[in-house]
Amino acid sequence: MAKTLLINVTITIIILLFSSSSCSSSSTRVYYYWNDNNGVEDLIDQVCKRTPFYELCSSTLHNNPLLSPKSDIKQVALIMVNNILSNATDTLNYIEALLKHTKDPNLEQALALCAESYIPVVRFTLPQAAAAISQGHFAFASYCISDAVKEVNSCEGRLSKAPSDNKSPLGDRNDLVQKLVDVANSIIKLLLKA
Ligand SMILES: *[C@@H]1O[C@H](CO)[C@@H](O)[C@H](O)[C@H]1NC(C)=O
Repeated sequence: MAKTLLINVTITIIILLFSSSSCSSSSTRVYYYWNDNNGVEDLIDQVCKRTPFYELCSSTLHNNPLLSPKSDIKQVALIMVNNILSNATDTLNYIEALLKHTKDPNLEQALALCAESYIPVVRFTLPQAAAAISQGHFAFASYCISDAVKEVNSCEGRLSKAPSDNKSPLGDRNDLVQKLVDVANSIIKLLLKA
């Protein structure tokens, strides 16, 4: 009898463990800000107000075809992370183009190290962050995004140290990615609190 009970309890625990870690439970909707009167603009406004760069946040989301009146904060976070991914991809292409043309060996070395920083960000870190958001694993998403910003910072650090007459050729791009990351992290914090 005691053994049967033990087995039953064990099975129940296993079922509980599995059901609590399955994607369906974590993909439950977070809260809606939407109602008939305000719509998408209000969602954008309310979310962006809680980020450090309101203008950047709202201009990124404004007129975004992926946002509908039924969108929730999770979807906003996903759009933001995909925007960072497309910016980072663009920057990586730009680094590769610069590498082909630069004749300054110090700059060349710094750019090569930047490409090394950006490649895992574009291939793994940001896609993983997006997948984590879709699955409701917001803490992991936040961890991935912070990892991406470390890589961008180390790229910028190398470029600013490279003895060159010009200012960092990626300065504006790296700066934009850093700001977008700050915005994305604030949005993910809203999800974590929800
Ligand atoms: C980079 O981010 C900015 C600001 O959100 C956006 O306007 C721009 O389209 C993005 N660039 C790319 C290549 O995705």
